[in-house]
Amino acid sequence: MKQYLKYIKPYLVSFVVGPLLMIVEVLGEVLMPYFMSLIINEGVANRNVSYIVGIGLTMVLTAFIMMAGGIGGAYFGAKGAISFAADVRRDVFLKIQKFSFANIDKFSTGSLVTRLTNDITQMQNLVNMALRMMLRAPGMLIGAIIMAFGMNPRLALVILVVGPLLALAIFCIVRVAFPRFDIMQKKLDFVNSGIQEALTNVRVIKSFVRGNYEEEKFSRANDDLKEASLNAFRVMILMMPVMTLAMNLTVLAVVWFGGKQVIAGEMLVGDLTAFITYITQILMSLMMLSMVLLQSSRAIASARRVQEVLNETIDLTDDQARYKNLEVRRGKIEFKNVSFRYYKDNHEKVLENISFVANPGEIVGIIGSTGCGKTSLVQMIPRLYDADEGEVLVDDVNVREYSLYHLRNGVGMVLQKNVLFSGTIEENLLWGDEKASEDVLSAAARAAQAEDFINSFIDGYDTELGQGGVNVSGGQKQRLCIARALLKKPKILILDDSTSAVDTATESRIRESFSTSLKDTTKVIIAQRITSVMDADRILVMDEGKIVGEGKHMELLKSCEAYQEIYYSQMDKEAS
Ligand code: UTP
Ligand code: MG
Repeated sequence: MKQYLKYIKPYLVSFVVGPLLMIVEVLGEVLMPYFMSLIINEGVANRNVSYIVGIGLTMVLTAFIMMAGGIGGAYFGAKGAISFAADVRRDVFLKIQKFSFANIDKFSTGSLVTRLTNDITQMQNLVNMALRMMLRAPGMLIGAIIMAFGMNPRLALVILVVGPLLALAIFCIVRVAFPRFDIMQKKLDFVNSGIQEALTNVRVIKSFVRGNYEEEKFSRANDDLKEASLNAFRVMILMMPVMTLAMNLTVLAVVWFGGKQVIAGEMLVGDLTAFITYITQILMSLMMLSMVLLQSSRAIASARRVQEVLNETIDLTDDQARYKNLEVRRGKIEFKNVSFRYYKDNHEKVLENISFVANPGEIVGIIGSTGCGKTSLVQMIPRLYDADEGEVLVDDVNVREYSLYHLRNGVGMVLQKNVLFSGTIEENLLWGDEKASEDVLSAAARAAQAEDFINSFIDGYDTELGQGGVNVSGGQKQRLCIARALLKKPKILILDDSTSAVDTATESRIRESFSTSLKDTTKVIIAQRITSVMDADRILVMDEGKIVGEGKHMELLKSCEAYQEIYYSQMDKEAS
């Protein structure tokens, strides 16, 4: 928990002044019953009106000072807590941005959202509560005990009986509640993950008519959360009634024993009324303390979950970057005996002993059956994942020795499952190059064969895209993604099945424009259709994580069995 101290530091003023102002309020609270007893004992008993007025005015003044303290304390409390939470949230978000794919897979996005929102809110609530109660509750407890014992030590012994009993009850309640809140938070994760998945994939769910299934899945998670919450709050619910019962019984005892003393002339009536107030204050402060304790049990569970994110070791870093300022200049790619698996514990290798060289400016085609490892292979180049064995070199330098920034800047990648963001087409394209002029923008769009359809929209480049680019067709989206990657003017361009939804004529025009506008860029093209890679300078044929053939189209057609198989199956289809 120590690591959260640094989030308190910038707001130290709030964290100190807030509780101190609350002390002002407490002092007033403890003095008020005493003033009251003076009025009854001295003023009323002796019919001394001017005395009553004097003390009364003092009480009014005290009340105003108390209010000022209360307002100030609450203000600084809220300010400290809100600023604290905002800073933690910012850091968690920044950390998640640095996560590798593997890191994100480990947490799941739903859980990350819960941690960023609900968990941090729990922490904020605790800090706010602590700032207001930290000094106030103990202050009231101690102040009231001193006043009560000072007034009537014999009667104050009642506290010695009730206090420990009550503390024990509170302790038991909090102990039972603690683990239940932990469970509740985990269930909330499930609900959030469910919501996240269902909302982002609402189109797929509808097209598969899986709405009912999703509803059921969601209600199950929701019911689980409800049960877990009820379970936790059932314990919490006990708190108030137990406190009230204790309070009432104690007051009764005080009136009983105190009343006897008053009758016997051993105690003044005013003291008895003040005494009852002090007893109530003592119990109230115990209740406040228990509330803080309970909130902290929730917040500590949350703080741990947030800490897990903050302390996660990012498995893709710049640590080994020897050439932090090196940029990708030529675009040569070399794989030396690269092996890779997604799950490190005795799972099969997804890539095995991959070796090949691609020279600057070449077109490299990669072809092979689905699941054979094509995407996995190209992801090694911009270091979306790291190779387990062997080396990946770009311009004869190991990719780990570049800074991630320069490496990824030099590599343009159109992912197989690519997305656009909400905003206009232009805004989306500018991701590739923030400063691109209109001419550059339209040149890239032209090269990706996107210009015609963009201009056919009424708003042209200002057409608003929905989240994920839902309001353009699959093929249009792919061409926008290509244009976006082209704007980066990368030295290496990777297209992972990026023209699968584009018709063959348009696709061949895209290829043609590449040969003129991207002459010096090394192009790695993954495709299902042989026609997409036929003209490549070098074709890699993959099967089950291995390269089983390498060469030009005609060579492979003669020598590579796997290639012949793919070729003839596609030719047959076209012929029939
Ligand atoms: P790839 O995703 O590299 O296959 O997965 P691919 O050749 O590109 O396939 P298509 O043509 O796009 O369909 C290779 C293997 O790695 C596993 C998959 O199960 C597959 O067998 N894999 C992939 C994972 O285990 N985790 C992932 O995140 C991705
Ligand atoms: Mg793939």
